Amino acid sequence: PRPIIIDCDPGHDDAIAILLALAHPEELEIRGITTVGGNQILDKITDNALKVLSFVNADIPVAKGAKGPLFGKLVTGEEAHGESGMDGPVLPASKFKPVDQGAVEFMLEIIRASEEKITLVPMAPLTNIALLITAYPEVKDKIKEISLMGGGLAYGNVTSTAEFNIFVDPEAARIVYESGIPIVMSGLDVTDKAAIFEEEILELKQKGPVSVMVGELLDFYSIYGKKMGYVGNALHDPCAVAWLLHPELFESEHLYVTVETEGKLTRGMTVADRRKKPDRQPNVQVLTGVDREAFMKLLFDSLERLDRE
Ligand code: BDR
Ligand code: CA
Repeated sequence: PRPIIIDCDPGHDDAIAILLALAHPEELEIRGITTVGGNQILDKITDNALKVLSFVNADIPVAKGAKGPLFGKLVTGEEAHGESGMDGPVLPASKFKPVDQGAVEFMLEIIRASEEKITLVPMAPLTNIALLITAYPEVKDKIKEISLMGGGLAYGNVTSTAEFNIFVDPEAARIVYESGIPIVMSGLDVTDKAAIFEEEILELKQKGPVSVMVGELLDFYSIYGKKMGYVGNALHDPCAVAWLLHPELFESEHLYVTVETEGKLTRGMTVADRRKKPDRQPNVQVLTGVDREAFMKLLFDSLERLDRE
């Protein structure tokens, strides 16, 4: 299996992404999970991560990372994710605790100790990853690639141009995009197409305990989606995991992409060079489309696997 580290801020869709990865131990070996302030403050989202793992009895080490962005104050996603950061289902208290190490040292140790290169799967503001590669640039060579959820070439969701994960810490995102590490970007261009619809959520809620829990997560998550004018609920973060499992489900383009950190209207925007003769070599595989039906089948089957355990 491919060794991965998930960096997250659960977060409804983060929780679903973690479950999707957990359902495929033959393909993905989750060496650890790191958390970062994003959808809610660090303590809350770390607790959520531990509760999700506990719910499916997965004793995977969790390390707490940065409380907020490199500069300025944390903007949370409370409006979408609620007061707990993962409102909806009532989950039992976690059996597990975070490790003593901070996220950066934790990732560093895993990467250094590994014979194989590690794949990073960030689905939150990129603060932890930026801190890691800035403090220890030598680890870049031992990172196979970064499959991240963030950005969007066509539009944003916090502002007209910026997606939440990039918007919260544009400086960190820029460091990561310009790091030279190969990046696969699940931005809004693809994640909005990976939407789950109401009748599918109803179907989930007829199934086993994990599917039902996900159905309940999505019930809460849809409230904000509807308010914002969406019909389906975009499963943003699961795309970053699904690509690792089934890249053939996605369409993509290789482009040079970096992050605007200054623009008045464009701070936090992911900017791609789409000219026929761009100044630089492509650094990002931008996912642009997905076979929605196949993606949903993958998700449903994966949750069913967990239901049976
Ligand atoms: C991203 O922002 C968060 O609210 C979600 O968890 C996802 O990572 C979508 O813009
Ligand atoms: Ca997230």
